[in-house]
Amino acid sequence: MNEKQRLETSAQINPADKKSVKDYSQYFQSVYQPPSLQDAKKRGKEEIKIDRGFIIPEDMLNLGVGRKFYIRTYGCQMNEHDTEVMAGILTEMGYEPTDSVETADIVLLNTCAIRENAENKVFGEIGHLKTYKKRNPNLLIGICGCMSQEESVVNRILQKHQFVDMVFGTHNIHRLPQIVKEAMFSKEMVVEVWSKEGDVIENLPRVRKGEIKAWVNIMYGCDKFCTYCIVPYTRGKERSRLPQDIIEEVRHLARNGYQEVTLLGQNVNAYGKDFTDMKYGLGELMDELRKIDIPRIRFTTSHPRDFDDRLIDVLAKGGNLMEHIHLPVQSGSSEVLKLMARKYDRETYLELVRKMKERIPNASFTTDIIVGFPNETDEQFEETMSLYREVEFDTAYTFIYSPREGTPAAKMEDNIPMEVKKERLQRLNALVNELAVQKNLALQDQIVEVLVEGESKKNPEILAGYTSKNKLINFKGPKSAIGKIVKVKITQAKTWSLDGEMIEEAVEVN
Ligand code: 5AD
Ligand code: SF4
Repeated sequence: MNEKQRLETSAQINPADKKSVKDYSQYFQSVYQPPSLQDAKKRGKEEIKIDRGFIIPEDMLNLGVGRKFYIRTYGCQMNEHDTEVMAGILTEMGYEPTDSVETADIVLLNTCAIRENAENKVFGEIGHLKTYKKRNPNLLIGICGCMSQEESVVNRILQKHQFVDMVFGTHNIHRLPQIVKEAMFSKEMVVEVWSKEGDVIENLPRVRKGEIKAWVNIMYGCDKFCTYCIVPYTRGKERSRLPQDIIEEVRHLARNGYQEVTLLGQNVNAYGKDFTDMKYGLGELMDELRKIDIPRIRFTTSHPRDFDDRLIDVLAKGGNLMEHIHLPVQSGSSEVLKLMARKYDRETYLELVRKMKERIPNASFTTDIIVGFPNETDEQFEETMSLYREVEFDTAYTFIYSPREGTPAAKMEDNIPMEVKKERLQRLNALVNELAVQKNLALQDQIVEVLVEGESKKNPEILAGYTSKNKLINFKGPKSAIGKIVKVKITQAKTWSLDGEMIEEAVEVN
């Protein structure tokens, strides 16, 4: 997108001009192009641009000196990582972080659109922020993330929450310096949301939340268009970072003492499909990354359809590639999977898991499941229950179906009564708990390797960390073990965590 097009899709709205919603709508129509879910659906054939030109213009470098920022993050790891980028940009502008809204000069809500209750929480929070704005009219309030990509959300903010200063989309994060400057000096609502974007922006600064584990984006967007899901509209088309940029970032993290990286993408198994000049996928990438001197590498989220043999072969090499695979299934019924447009059926999913268990005998599996999708019958729900038992998942994220405006499923009749949805969710959760306990009991008296992250949240005398299969372990040990991988003997299995005793002094694992 060039500067002219950009200006056409962003606008400053002066609240003083918004006398009535009706007048305002007319005014608004004349200057502002809302983000369009329809446009976001288009997948252009043009080449993906890698933009390495990110800089913060000189006149914006000191805008934040003596000022503080606060970012609240909702939703997935992709959003958590976007927050790290925004924190990086604001820090370079001179801002300092604060962990309270009271002391902040700029508050950003990095939002999630995946389910209706996630959106309701954000609207509740926007309402609370009005009090702070009244107390401190210089406070800048910004709404960003996936919700800002939805036209209905942007329109609702414009009509009902006129005290908001900035609305910007997931494709506009690198424009944060310009957006903040505009909002600061004009005191008008700045709206900058691009409907779709094929670019990959490199060289963005980041302030990472921890010093032990780090997230690394390997690709952006999603082209799968599962019928219930808003993500392909809010995050744009699939586009991969170049292997050398990812490898360099992981090497840099290793040199700086990080012990674990998680490769991120909405559909990591589609990594590289957009490369026009080479055949290079997640398998090839992992095969190179495993040679880097970093103890643990994970990836999320996988789509069963694109999980190929090459990747399975590479994962079977083990080493620093963790044997935990998060493989969302969504439903155990082939008919429901078809309505969801998941592009696999029950048998293909089970076959894929069988193949992985055979080649990676140590592998553990977790999943995402939606209950109460339109037309889901009792029998189809029972198929989800039986698939869960058959795979023997370690655990699962379970959700009640929530219609999302603009998606194909939202046009289907949401015909499962809420009581039935809740009852199915309860039964499924009971099964998830039952298997989680069983899996944890099998670890009783076993010795596991734990990457120690710090003191346990509940008791500072106790240390906490995760195993290679991502199980939470609490144990007594010296503070010097923090940031290291240590051996722990399991003494007590619980449903969601295990207790243990450290059996040797911390050793640095390189
Ligand atoms: N309703 C309920 N759950 C959803 N998910 C995605 N979209 C919806 C929706 N409309 C769930 C899926 C996905 C996870 C991140 O959120 O299970 O894998
Ligand atoms: Fe993440 Fe999806 Fe929520 Fe966006 S909608 S923040 S991609 S979980």
